[in-house]
Amino acid sequence: MAATSPFDQQQAIPGVKHIIAVSSGKGGVGKSTVATNLATALGQKNKVGLLDADIYGPSIPRMLGSLNQKPAINKEQKIEPLLRYGIKLMSIGFLIDESSAVVWRGPMLFKAMDQFLRDVSWGELDYLVVDLPPGTGDVQLSLAQKVPVSGAVMVSTPQNVSLTDVKRAVDMFNRVGIRMLGLVENMAYMINPANGEKIQLFPKGELESYMKTQSIPKIGEIPFNPSIGLACEAGVPIVESYKAGAEAQEFLRIAERVRELLPVT
Ligand SMILES: Nc1ncnc2c1ncn2[C@@H]1O[C@H](COP(=O)(O)OP(=O)(O)OP(=O)(O)O)[C@@H](O)[C@H]1O
Ligand SMILES: [Mg+2]
Repeated sequence: MAATSPFDQQQAIPGVKHIIAVSSGKGGVGKSTVATNLATALGQKNKVGLLDADIYGPSIPRMLGSLNQKPAINKEQKIEPLLRYGIKLMSIGFLIDESSAVVWRGPMLFKAMDQFLRDVSWGELDYLVVDLPPGTGDVQLSLAQKVPVSGAVMVSTPQNVSLTDVKRAVDMFNRVGIRMLGLVENMAYMINPANGEKIQLFPKGELESYMKTQSIPKIGEIPFNPSIGLACEAGVPIVESYKAGAEAQEFLRIAERVRELLPVT
């Protein structure tokens, strides 16, 4: 008898063409910001869903102005995602109160992921973007085991201190057979408001050369800009609130790269 693997349980979500995982080695590097803006940017041309699976700090409800919302249950007994800026939104933050989440362990997380993937009325989607917690834990594993993930976008800041964590995360995705679509370098530089010049915020580390050895392309570089933080707080992604800005334009380019890497037919 052939050996069974946990990945034998993988089942596509009917109607969903591509699942994209947004991940990082470390916390606080801008994963949720990238996931939110990437989903919103993709949503300008595609049918898009955004799943906030960050059990330890679901921050997308705040970033999309949807705090304290409770999704409805529809006639088919499925959870109806909220609609924000044309994208379908579901967050673990809608289902549980924040203080209880941190004590969740393996089996509960697996069950919660099941609900998100199977019991939400996602409908027809070109892309389902999933915001993961940082690192390489049970949520990542359960996503990889339950559904075919088309690819992962890795978010990192450029410093060397992040490198060990990035390597560990890349290694995990390799092991579970998820393709790395590319790296988004966040908070890499700042634009000097006086003269428009780029200011590097950190010495260039080894991240880029490591990514090259892994054949993972850099698909975007987002500057540090306080207006990104303000947009998050205000609940309107920068792709919507300041469309003409360099940051919004970069997110639109990243979305274009993702469409090239994962075409919808
Ligand atoms: N390019 C940027 N410029 C300025 N502020 C940013 C930028 N990217 C993210 N931020 C801010 O940094 C903070 C952390 O970002 P975010 O929540 O997206 O990170 P995260 O990786 O999802 O964190 P966690 O690991 O806690 O989930 C937020 O307050 C966000 O507004
Ligand atoms: Mg986050």
